[in-house]
Amino acid sequence: MTNVPSSDDLAFYRQVAAEAALAAGQLLQSVWARPRKIRAKGEAGNLVTDADHGAEKLILEILADQMPNHAILAEESGRLSLEEGANDYLWAIDPLDGTTNYAHGYPVACVSIGLLHQGQPIVGAIYDPFRAELFLGAKGLGATCNEQPLQVSAIAKVSDSLLVSGFAYDRRQTLDNNYAEFCYLTHLTRGVRRSGSAALDLAAVASGRLDGYWERGIKPWDVAAGIVLLLEAGGQLSAYDGKPFAMKSGRILATNGLIHAELSMALQEAKTEYRTLFA
Ligand code: IPD
Ligand code: CA
Ligand code: CA
Repeated sequence: MTNVPSSDDLAFYRQVAAEAALAAGQLLQSVWARPRKIRAKGEAGNLVTDADHGAEKLILEILADQMPNHAILAEESGRLSLEEGANDYLWAIDPLDGTTNYAHGYPVACVSIGLLHQGQPIVGAIYDPFRAELFLGAKGLGATCNEQPLQVSAIAKVSDSLLVSGFAYDRRQTLDNNYAEFCYLTHLTRGVRRSGSAALDLAAVASGRLDGYWERGIKPWDVAAGIVLLLEAGGQLSAYDGKPFAMKSGRILATNGLIHAELSMALQEAKTEYRTLFA
């Protein structure tokens, strides 16, 4: 087992993550106006563009240069260990979160780079090139957007909340597709948004712009960075039922803390309760 990273280590990793996120984001922006090469991958609706690959390549080059002994999990390249016997550190990289938006020319997307230590997210960098917003966080060192501290919202009731959620690409293959939850929470709240970028959703909750986010079918590269921002901004993280969040489950509930228990309850009753709304 390696030692717990020091504050200096964390600050250094955060700096490298920021550098890589900015470089990849600038690439996404520079090729934005060009016709993109779009290809389908995996389930129906899951796209990948030449920009995803270009951004990922840049990030991998920067990490290989600065952190040659860390392991990497990158959405388009899979699991890479730059050196045999890589230690407890794993970088989870989404070079373009919001690919469907990007491929359609809808400018809501970002770069998301998270670092896990023994499975726990400890550093996060999310860069939104369309708003020039760089979100950074490190465990115990706080979270910022363009160097301004992040703080979750003070909304205390689900009925007063504005939420966000998303739908995994396997939604046509499973009844557990989040449709019931989305309808039920739309009914109970001021609204539920669907941005198309899980990383930006978490950054929005961390910033207090939205009050809660939930989703199933998420991958480590979608949420590792955003989890650090959320927790450092005073938010709460769990599974839908309030038990500890487990990355492998792919199910996440992230809120400002104040609405957590109430939203958790609503998610658990959604599949049965939403049918009664118009009965
Ligand atoms: C997707 C986005 C979307 C979420 C999907 C993700 P991608 O990532 O984060 O908001 O609903 O579950 O797969 O494909 O744009 O990197
Ligand atoms: Ca993603
Ligand atoms: Ca992606």
